Amino acid sequence: MSKSKSYIFKERDGELAFVGDFDGYYRDSDDPWEQSANAQMGRYYQLSRARLLTLAATSPNLGRILEVGCGHGHVTRLIAERFAGSEVCGLDISSVAIAGARQRYPQLPFFCANIGASPLPPALSSQRFGLVILNQLLWYILDDLPQVLANVRTLLASDGRLLISNAFAREQRYGTAIIDHFDGAVRYVRQAPGYRLLQARFDDDGEEHDDGHLLLAVTSDTHFRSTNQ
Ligand SMILES: C[S@@+](CC[C@H](N)C(=O)[O-])C[C@H]1O[C@@H](n2cnc3c(N)ncnc32)[C@H](O)[C@@H]1O
Repeated sequence: MSKSKSYIFKERDGELAFVGDFDGYYRDSDDPWEQSANAQMGRYYQLSRARLLTLAATSPNLGRILEVGCGHGHVTRLIAERFAGSEVCGLDISSVAIAGARQRYPQLPFFCANIGASPLPPALSSQRFGLVILNQLLWYILDDLPQVLANVRTLLASDGRLLISNAFAREQRYGTAIIDHFDGAVRYVRQAPGYRLLQARFDDDGEEHDDGHLLLAVTSDTHFRSTNQ
């Protein structure tokens, strides 16, 4: 975990500053963030991913599912196995991560894109999903969060769901002005245009990080549509 900090966050004047060199981290590490769940973070990931699958199963429309921030695709594969009748794809900003995902799971479709881009690439913006999952992505998109949520809203079908699955550090050192721990995330999404919060689940399993899940439905907010679509 500490290695990720020099690529993704850097100490600057006693605070953490966002660097965001995802390609660099994927080039220099076989298993960034220990996402294979085979190391120290394994138990946390197993618990969190089991909750992700349980909440995903409550979605009314599981026809097409997108995992955003899919990295090497380990969770994309879990989702595809759990929802065998669904079309499941993964998306990541890092072309190095996407190359690794394609190599590991050639049976699944993976795309390289920035979910915070404005506009989204047409190959993505023309698609609709019943479920979009932002998986362990929150701290890297904080500055672009309004745009990310607006983008995801346009990718969701009218009965679609957004599931945010994320670790929350006990001593959060970055981004507290935008989202301060899990309660701050709940407050933030409650105000997000075009969404309605359905479930907020917080778990402290005694691991290095707390675990949080937020499940949102889309609303038929006409103001949102006219300004964002
Ligand atoms: C902590 S990893 C999570 C990987 C995987 N979801 C998991 O839980 O094993 C975060 C991932 O988000 C990706 N990412 C960061 N910013 C992104 C953005 N703006 N758009 C798409 N992916 C992004 C990173 O490249 C990285 O692969």
